Amino acid sequence: MNFMELVQARRSVRAFADRRVEPDKLRAVLEAANQAPSAGNLQAYEIYQVTEPRVRAALARAADQSFIAESPVTLVFCANPGRAARKYGARGRDLYALQDATIAAAYAQLAATELDLATVWVGAFDTATVSAALRAPGDWVPVAILPLGYADELPSASSRRSLDDLVHEL
Ligand SMILES: Cc1cc2nc3c(=O)[nH]c(=O)nc-3n(C[C@H](O)[C@H](O)[C@H](O)COP(=O)(O)O)c2cc1C
Repeated sequence: MNFMELVQARRSVRAFADRRVEPDKLRAVLEAANQAPSAGNLQAYEIYQVTEPRVRAALARAADQSFIAESPVTLVFCANPGRAARKYGARGRDLYALQDATIAAAYAQLAATELDLATVWVGAFDTATVSAALRAPGDWVPVAILPLGYADELPSASSRRSLDDLVHEL
């Protein structure tokens, strides 16, 4: 698959096969995330790699989305606002750290697709409950939960706005 085919092939998957993710594949996904651009190259985000069933179940409850507990690995991308604030002040704290975490998670999703793995971006969750499940420091902000595994469904492509609607040409 070339990159454009990869982008087209990615789907949100919410059903996972009972199959482990090979450690080298998981590492490749994390390496891809680690190549994401970040403001000032500060990498103002953190990644939790969660395999412990008890914690995955807690994340599923925090999001009220049971498929999270069914994936063998769950990645949680957190913004680390303090890391960006040191150089960029309020803009780093309020914007760049969130963007850093978001871009890294997007890279992880695409890398997973390349490796025949499946993910879905989970953004609807109770932040405090997720932080507690991770025992994350109070100033880190969970941004995205990515359940990761082998797909047990083949979703069809979802629609997109037309470029005419989306793009504003000046
Ligand atoms: C910021 C964000 C939050 C999302 N939150 C959820 C979520 O909580 N649960 C879920 O099942 N999907 C969630 N999604 C996945 C979207 O529903 C999905 O990306 C969209 O419907 C397009 O489908 P596709 O990813 O298969 O192209 C989220 C996606 C984004 C980018």
